[in-house]
Amino acid sequence: MFQSQDLFGVPIYLAHVDLQSQLLEDLKSEEWHRFPASNGWGTTDKHLLDNPKHKDLRNIVDEHASNYVYRTLQVNHAVHQLDMLNTWGVKHNTGDWAQKHDHVNSMISGIIYLSSEHDSGKLILHKQLQWNNIFPRTTFIEFTGFSASTAEEWNYQPRTGDIVIFPSHVEHSVTKNLNANDRYCVAFNYFLRGTSTVGDHSTLTL
Ligand SMILES: [Fe+2]
Repeated sequence: MFQSQDLFGVPIYLAHVDLQSQLLEDLKSEEWHRFPASNGWGTTDKHLLDNPKHKDLRNIVDEHASNYVYRTLQVNHAVHQLDMLNTWGVKHNTGDWAQKHDHVNSMISGIIYLSSEHDSGKLILHKQLQWNNIFPRTTFIEFTGFSASTAEEWNYQPRTGDIVIFPSHVEHSVTKNLNANDRYCVAFNYFLRGTSTVGDHSTLTL
């Protein structure tokens, strides 16, 4: 008998919501601009979910961000309050994709998918090159299969109604949309506010 425990991992939150089709129609009706890299579209509004028009979507996102922070991570609710910073829609036409990037000026990020099928583009989360939980890059160790401890990246094929939440510093990218239909999602960033105290010598207000 033996057991192993994955310690000091990166917490990734996954959930699925049954979305009303009206939410997608409301997103489609937004104003869109082509990204400078010409690989996708973003909404002009970068505080999309502050608009009362998207109130139902806002409530869903808030509920899951709260689950992630207070139930999964067990952040102290009495000290730290979640603050939604910015939210924007992303549209990928057939052939569109997203380069590797992270979200700065943010602690918690996530994506809710309003239209995505089996080949609409995978979300890839990348491990930091210097993430030294085991085997630093001085050596290249070969593996026979996937394990969360040793993987260099994690691929996820999102479907309509999926929501993924992760730490904002985790680099991520999106593979090409191979589907004939446009892929729609809404991305969001949160910060933890509040004043934390360490012993009797240090406090910090965020
Ligand atoms: Fe992103």
